[in-house]
Formats: sequence, structure tokens, C-alpha cells
Amino acid sequence: MENNKKTWSGRFSEPVSELVERYTASIGFDYRLAEYDIQGSQAHAKMLAAKGIISQEDLTAIIDGLNQIKDEIQDNQFVWLQELEDVHLNIEKRLTALVGDAGKRLHTGRSRNDQVATDIRLFLRASIDQIVALIKATQRALLDLAEKHTNTVMPGFTHLQVAQPVSFGHHLMAYFEMLKRDVERLSDCRKRVNQLPLGAAALAGTSYPIEREMVAKELGFDGVCANSLDAVSDRDFAIEFCSCASLVMTHLSRLSEELILWMSPSFGFVELADRFCTGSSIMPQKKNPDVPELVRGKTGRINGHLVALLTLMKAQPLAYNKDNQEDKEPLFDTVDTLVDTLRIYADMLTGVRVNPDAMQQATMRGYATATDLADYLTKKGVPFRDSHEIVAKTVQYAEQKACDLSDLTLAELQMFSAQVEQDIFAILTLDGSMKSRNHIGGTAPEQVAAAIDKARKGLA
Ligand code: ARG
Repeated sequence: MENNKKTWSGRFSEPVSELVERYTASIGFDYRLAEYDIQGSQAHAKMLAAKGIISQEDLTAIIDGLNQIKDEIQDNQFVWLQELEDVHLNIEKRLTALVGDAGKRLHTGRSRNDQVATDIRLFLRASIDQIVALIKATQRALLDLAEKHTNTVMPGFTHLQVAQPVSFGHHLMAYFEMLKRDVERLSDCRKRVNQLPLGAAALAGTSYPIEREMVAKELGFDGVCANSLDAVSDRDFAIEFCSCASLVMTHLSRLSEELILWMSPSFGFVELADRFCTGSSIMPQKKNPDVPELVRGKTGRINGHLVALLTLMKAQPLAYNKDNQEDKEPLFDTVDTLVDTLRIYADMLTGVRVNPDAMQQATMRGYATATDLADYLTKKGVPFRDSHEIVAKTVQYAEQKACDLSDLTLAELQMFSAQVEQDIFAILTLDGSMKSRNHIGGTAPEQVAAAIDKARKGLA
């Protein structure tokens, strides 16, 4: 640029060094806000014209010029310049080159401070809508898989030790519930994202007779930020979004951890489609669950972004500080990582092959019906703590014989409690145990089917 002259350099006596220029520029990443920057500028210009602050001719020139710039960007014809610092100044400079003085009037009653805050909010609103749709697609994939497995028994674990038999469909529906809360959280976050900063100008508002509600309406915001200092400076809405994103990733990471375990030959509960796995360059037999491992790994990176934004904000005095320029890369990467993760996840779940026999055998190995035996005795009048003790002894005995509780004879079971009768054998089966937990939220297949039904209606 001519003599390295900046838009703001009127009072400066020497140009910034190349290093400082590079250090302070954000164009390397904020160019992706361009479409929102143009939207925001067009809405601002319309308001300026409606209030008589700029002329109708200027408005037409600005709208047309910005539309042309939008096309240039889409066609990859737009030249982004580091010396123009950021997306806002790059676009403004080009507009002025295209339409002259009208372009210079666009920034009337506005600052890059309220401009960038508006751009991020528009970007985030669109991202939240995309992410919510993708979570719902993942939920649908969970429902489809759960529906096929309401009757499939698997070991329910606590401490990763076999605890009680559960329906595999029930297990999957636990993740449906987590994702449902994630959607609620993101939808709630959207309300706070969807407030208009424009009009706050640099920090104190502007002396022009602006009408902020008009701009808010034009851009689809629910309302205007109530305090100009707050509007340009806080990024709590972005932090909140990142915390929602961290929770989505945390939920997917837990499911990934399970898929990895279940896919290990020691479990053998499921197989993932080959396209989500890779082999080993040395061990020919290997099929590694790379995709779930990376989801688990990328969760760390998303959590890191949340902490980065919290740390960025925590010591900033009012109002805008350049620190805030650092909000973009963590935010963009959070959105990109989450979008890719969700897109892959919905697809991966549709390719899960289940091995019900392996699940059944694993459940048999863990004395999963011990609680059922204790409950049986308690229902016959034995105090629960005594039943617990009796069953513990019975399990010890079965362990020595290396058999399941249901393999013991009636006489053997009666060695530990005289209350045991022939009807115990129906109770000790895995199916019987699962079916007996028949209340809302329980693992009985009937309840799981009802939960799936309700969930499907809720998603529609
Ligand atoms: N690139 C800047 C950012 O991302 C835009 C706002 C600049 N404002 C300023 N007063 N220098 O925050």
C-alpha cells in the first residue's frame, strides 16, 4: 500500500514494522467472517439511509458494491491483504475502491468493535443451528440402533465390573438423553448469542440518530445488547458456546471410549465398519478404532479452547481490548471440530455391527443376577442386609465351582437360605432380571421401546 499507510494511521509518524503488522493482523483467520461482515454492513447502511444519515444513492452504491465483493470472495477472486489487518478493513477498502466516497461513509456511527462483535454473533448463530441439526442426526442414528436392540442383553457395568444385565438399547438411549440435554443447552445459549451489538460503536454509543432495533430486525436478532460497554467487550456468549461444545464432545468421547472397549477382542461386543478403522503397518491382524480414538483425543483440544477463552477474558478491563482478537481461532476450531465429529459420528453409528452372543456370555460371567437373588430373598421377608450377605456367600460358592448362580441346584441354593424355592430359576435368568426392572427409566425392554418411541416423537 502507498507508503504503508493504514486506515487509522493519520496521527502516526512512522509505519509499523513488518513483524508488528504480521503480529497484529487477524486476516489470516477472520476472513471467514466475511459473509457476516457484509450482512452486518448492509443492514447498518440501510438503517443509516432510513434515518437520513447517508443518502439513498450512497446506500445503493454500498449495497451493490458489497454484493460484488461477496461474489468476488465466493469466486476466489478477492485479494486479502495482511497490511489491511483484518476482514473489516479489507472489505471496506475494496468497497471504497469500487464505489468511492459512499464506501467511506459506511463506517459512520460504527466501530470495528461493535462490528466484529456482531460478526461473531452471526457466525455463531449459524454454527449453533448447524450443530443442533447434526446432533439430531446423531440422535436418530442412536434411536435406529437402539430400536434393533431393546431385547439384547449386555452386562451393565459399575467400576467397569459386571453389575446387572441391561438392554443394549437402554445403554444406547443413555447417550440419546445426554445429547438431548446438549441440544437444550445450545438452544438456550443461542438466545444470548442472538443480541445485536451494533450501535455500541467503539464503546459509548454514537451521537448519530441511529435506530438499533431496525438493524436487529434486519439481521434476525432477538434484541439489542442493553449496554454499549458490555456489547463490545464481553465474549461470554462464545465461552458459553464453547462450554456447550465441550459437553457434546465429552459425551461423544465417553461413547467413543465404550466403542473402543467393545471393539477390543477381549469384549468383542461390536464391530465398526472398516471405513472408520485403520490397520497397523507391522501387525497384519490389527483393525484399530481410529475414529473413536480421535474423537476422544479431540475432546482434549475442545476443552483447551474453552479454557483459552476463559483465560482470555478474565483480566480484561472494560471495554474492548485487542486481546479479544484471540477469541476467533479457538472458536472457529471448536465449531469445525464439532461439526466434523458429529458428521462422522452419525455415519459411524449406522455402521455398527453388534454381537449379541458375546454380550450375553459376558453377562453370564459376572454374576449379574446376584442383586435379583438378594431382592428375591428380601421380598420373602429376609432383611436386605442379610440377603446381601447370603448372596455374597452363594456367589463365593458358585465361583469355586466356576459356574453361574443359575447353574446351582435348588439344594445348593438352599444351603445358604431356606427361603429359596423353585421359582428362583425364573428370576436368575438374564432376561428375567432385565424384564423385572419395569418402570419409567428402567431397563425392561418394554420400557426401552416406550422411551425410544417417545424420543422419536420428540425429535420430529
Ligand atoms: N480484528 C479485530 C478483532 O478481531 C477487530 C476489532 C479491532 N478494533 C480495534 N479497536 N482495533 O477484535
